[in-house]
Amino acid sequence: MIYTTYSSLQKTLHWTIAILIIGLWCAGFSFDYLAKSTFKSFLVNTHKTLGVIVLFMAFFRIIVRIKHPVKAFKLPKLIEFMGKLTHIILYFLIVTMPLSGWLMATASQKMPSWFPIYIPGISYSKSLSKSMHMIHGYLGYAIAFFVLLHVGATLYHVWRKEPILDRMLFRS
Ligand code: HEM
Ligand code: HEM
Repeated sequence: MIYTTYSSLQKTLHWTIAILIIGLWCAGFSFDYLAKSTFKSFLVNTHKTLGVIVLFMAFFRIIVRIKHPVKAFKLPKLIEFMGKLTHIILYFLIVTMPLSGWLMATASQKMPSWFPIYIPGISYSKSLSKSMHMIHGYLGYAIAFFVLLHVGATLYHVWRKEPILDRMLFRS
C-alpha cells in the first residue's frame, strides 16, 4: 500500500533529525574558532554523541520509510523528479555525515568515553582518520547546500500555495 501522507513517526523523525543536524553543523564549524577549553571538549563530545544518535535514527528512518511508502505530491514531472532526487541525496547525507564522523573519531581512538551505550570501534588508523576528517568536512558543505535547496523549495511551494509543507506538519 502507498500512503498519501507521512505518519506521525515519520514527521517526528524528520523534525528531530533536522534540528539535530542543524545544531551539529553549527557546532562542527564552530570548533575551529574555539580555543582549547573544558567547554570545547564538552561541545566536541556532545557533537560526537548526538552525531552517533543521528546515525541510528537515520537507519531507523529509512526502514520506516520502506515500510510506509508515501506517494510524491503531484507536480510537473521534472520538479517531481528533482524533489525525489534531493530527498535521496539528503537520505544519503544523513547516513554518510555521521558515519564519516564516527570513522574519523574511532580510527583515531577518540570516541567519547561517556557515550551512554556501547559503540563498536575500529583499530587505530591515522590515514583513515585523516581521510574521514576531509570527507566529513566536504559532506558538511554538501549537506548545507542540499538542506538550503530543500528549504528553499519548500518555501517556494508555500508561496505557490501548494500544500507540501502541510504534509510534514502534525496538523494533517
Ligand atoms: C549528522 C551528524 C553530523 C554532522 C551534521 C556533523 C557536522 C560537522 C561539521 C560541519 C564539522 C566541521 C567540519 C570542518 O570544519 O571541516 C564537524 C566536525 C567534526 N565532527 Fe561532526 N558531524 C556529525 C557527526 C559526527 C560524528 C558522529 C562524529 C564522531 C563520532 C563527529 C566528529 C566530528 C569531529 C571530531 C569534528 C572536528 C574535526 C576537526 O578537528 O576539525 N561528527 N562535524
Ligand atoms: C537537516 C535538515 C533536513 C533534512 C536532512 C531533511 C530531509 C528530508 C527528507 C529526506 C525528506 C523526504 C521524506 C520522504 O519522502 O521520505 C524530507 C521531506 C520534507 N521536508 Fe525536510 N529535511 C530537513 C529540513 C527541513 C526543513 C527545515 C523544512 C521546512 C522548511 C523541511 C520540509 C520538508 C517537507 C515539507 C517535506 C515533505 C515533502 C513532500 O511531501 O514531498 N525539511 N525532508
